Amino acid sequence: MTILSKDIEQAAQFLKEGKLVAFPTETVYGLAGNALSDNAVAGIYAAKGRPSFNPLIVHVANAGMARQYAEFDDTANLLAKRFWPGPLTLVLKRKEGCKLSMLLSAGLETVALRVPADDLAQELLEKTGMPLAAPSANRSGHISPTDAQQVMAELDNRIAMVLDGGRCPVGIESTVIDASVNPPLILRPGSITFDELSRLVKNIAVAPEGSKVIAPGMNASHYAPNHTMRLNATSVEQDEALLAFGGNVPQGAFFTENLSESANLEEAAANLFRMLRILDGTKAKRIAVMPIPEEGLGVAINDRLKKAAAPKE
Ligand code: TXA
Ligand code: MG
Repeated sequence: MTILSKDIEQAAQFLKEGKLVAFPTETVYGLAGNALSDNAVAGIYAAKGRPSFNPLIVHVANAGMARQYAEFDDTANLLAKRFWPGPLTLVLKRKEGCKLSMLLSAGLETVALRVPADDLAQELLEKTGMPLAAPSANRSGHISPTDAQQVMAELDNRIAMVLDGGRCPVGIESTVIDASVNPPLILRPGSITFDELSRLVKNIAVAPEGSKVIAPGMNASHYAPNHTMRLNATSVEQDEALLAFGGNVPQGAFFTENLSESANLEEAAANLFRMLRILDGTKAKRIAVMPIPEEGLGVAINDRLKKAAAPKE
């Protein structure tokens, strides 16, 4: 039986015992285990049903703690200083003698690190004093959960506890940057946009499509709902569920959810996964999605939508 509660002491206690706990971050819920323990990390892969060649992100309380485990060059320092705590994940070379479980690097010489900004996440990291390995708290191939009830729907009976912190404000997973290479590469777009990043790091580049072998979790179909998806829909059929955006919504859908009536991209990102789950739960034949502008946060939203729409592997 998985406990759903706000009891942070209990959550920290479970983690110290090597058990698994889902917890809120500003982006999406994570499924945490002690990153120093092979057993705990293996447990995460098992609970998610995740292929073990897909590496996990390690969450730490601050940049100082991250420096214990990975090599920081000038670019990494710059990015960490500007965006931590916050929705940025840095892929860096593991330091020699790095005590993090080898399993979470899935055979790579790098490790992905992130300092979450969420208050509860910070408190949990502080109370455990441990680095926490935590992928998104969904079963492999499913949509990331943005509230505690969605986590329960995904992982009930597979983990010890879900720490309930309400809805995640950002709603889309962190921006992942491989800073172990020069120029640094954006492996996954997120709420920290390309423009913001390239103002700070002039030569930063977007990893070309297909180069995703270095981040195996980023293969085409990763956020797949059960229903098929039709993107850039400007009209809708009556057996389709519609994911709308903005004020100009085509009428006649079987069911409609609007990401943001005022066409606000932050609001849309925060609603994206929850509404996709709701639409996926209807008896519609297909999910139609209105066009989202490919600018700012829209880039990350479209990235997740394309993955949701890709044929399943
Ligand atoms: O916002 C987030 O990043 C959330 C919250 C919980 O922090 N976490 C998350 O984790 O989205 P996950 O495991 O679902 O996605 C992590 C991504 C995966 O696509 C994985 O392949 C990539 O980061 N990754 C992890 N370690 C890597 C490494 N050493 N090299 C390249 N990519 C890596
Ligand atoms: Mg994930």
